[in-house]
Amino acid sequence: MKEKKMRSMMHEFLVLGCVLLGILGNVSAGITSSFVRSEFPAVDMPLDHEVFAIPSGYNAPQQVHITQGDYDGKAVIIIWVTPSEPGPNIVKYGTSENKYDYTAQGSKVKNYTFYNYKSGFIHTCLVKDLEYDTKYYYEIGEGDSARSFWFKTPPKIDPNAYYKFGIIGDLGQTFNSLSTLEHYIESGAEAVLFVGDLSYSDEHEYSENGERWDSFGRFVERNLAYQPWLWIVGNHEVEYLPEINEVEPFKQYLYRYPTPYAASESSSPLWYAVRRASAHIIFLSSYSPYVKYTPQYEWLLAEFKKVDRKKTPWLFVLMHSPLYNSNSAHYMEAESMRVVFESWFVKYKVDLVLAGHVHAYERSPDYSAFREASYGHSTLEIMNKTHAFYHWNRNDDGKKVETDSFVLYNQYW
Ligand SMILES: *[C@@H]1O[C@H](CO)[C@@H](O)[C@H](O)[C@H]1NC(C)=O
Ligand SMILES: *[C@@H]1O[C@H](CO)[C@@H](O)[C@H](O)[C@H]1NC(C)=O
Ligand SMILES: [Fe+2]
Repeated sequence: MKEKKMRSMMHEFLVLGCVLLGILGNVSAGITSSFVRSEFPAVDMPLDHEVFAIPSGYNAPQQVHITQGDYDGKAVIIIWVTPSEPGPNIVKYGTSENKYDYTAQGSKVKNYTFYNYKSGFIHTCLVKDLEYDTKYYYEIGEGDSARSFWFKTPPKIDPNAYYKFGIIGDLGQTFNSLSTLEHYIESGAEAVLFVGDLSYSDEHEYSENGERWDSFGRFVERNLAYQPWLWIVGNHEVEYLPEINEVEPFKQYLYRYPTPYAASESSSPLWYAVRRASAHIIFLSSYSPYVKYTPQYEWLLAEFKKVDRKKTPWLFVLMHSPLYNSNSAHYMEAESMRVVFESWFVKYKVDLVLAGHVHAYERSPDYSAFREASYGHSTLEIMNKTHAFYHWNRNDDGKKVETDSFVLYNQYW
């Protein structure tokens, strides 16, 4: 009845992953793929793997990654790490290759310790007042250690803007993570909606924990230096470790993965919203308070009221822990968030609720319409105001195999 109606009005997905086990339960509904993954659990690539290579040159910038820097897509935040000393804290950029007409100044360089790990110098630079739909080239570092990259800004906010997002979660740094990332890069999508659990560094002890944040940053740079990923926290970002006296939740994540939260009047980098092309996207934290009267609750209600479906017909919500999940792995973990937010998602006609965490793929609108215990990535191709195409692509012994796709019709128009 009521719940059934809600489910048929919402579309929800569990997205890929690595490392942990997603055991299938015994629910009979929809299609359960017969696929059985060959590498399980996945193992981390060794630290001397070439994907983790340190760029050459003294103090060369590494772990370069970008995210949206404002509410409407005319700014990016560029983050990088220098290992030996702070070094230059500026980004040079412009619209032609090797010619940088502009300079942006980074905010205060930060470094931290985590148990017996000492971080490098973390730079965060907001590059703003960009033109829409434009390719920018940028350079960081100096002399022989300078490195250059590029990114493209999205089209201006427009109800019929075409845009192709990728969806990735629970990435980690295993051989399967590499496969996922390589397949995603081939997809031609322009920005990633990342549903939490980045580096899985917390599966390593002592100083290797921090080192695995660094190696992850070097691994994903191949894509993240060139296009924004818009991230949220997963349980692997919490890192509440009283046994080593590290009790500040999200400490390493917050140093390394900033968000443009102030642009959406959020009081915390852990929940925020942006608009990009024809989409309004809301990013939530499964691991921060969200019941009535909490900041996240109050903020979300205010944000829903700001959504203008005439300008951004598509409305997406991301959280790490899925509200619906038929797998025994993480079963009902997000039930309390479902109780608090589900009725709003229905009321405000959210088109898509994206989550990760389970390391298997599953979607509605029918209860578990399709599910598959595989690794992979999704793409979400917005065609216009009314139609979007969704594709799930699993990793199959290194090959990319599309195993689920459907047309998404806008819930509002
Ligand atoms: C940051 O780096 C400086 C210079 O190496 C060092 O003196 C300081 O202790 C570091 N701070 C933290 C919190 O690690
Ligand atoms: C929107 O895109 C879909 C899928 O490509 C297409 O069938 C439909 O005609 C488009 N609508 C408009 C108004 O162009
Ligand atoms: Fe998770």
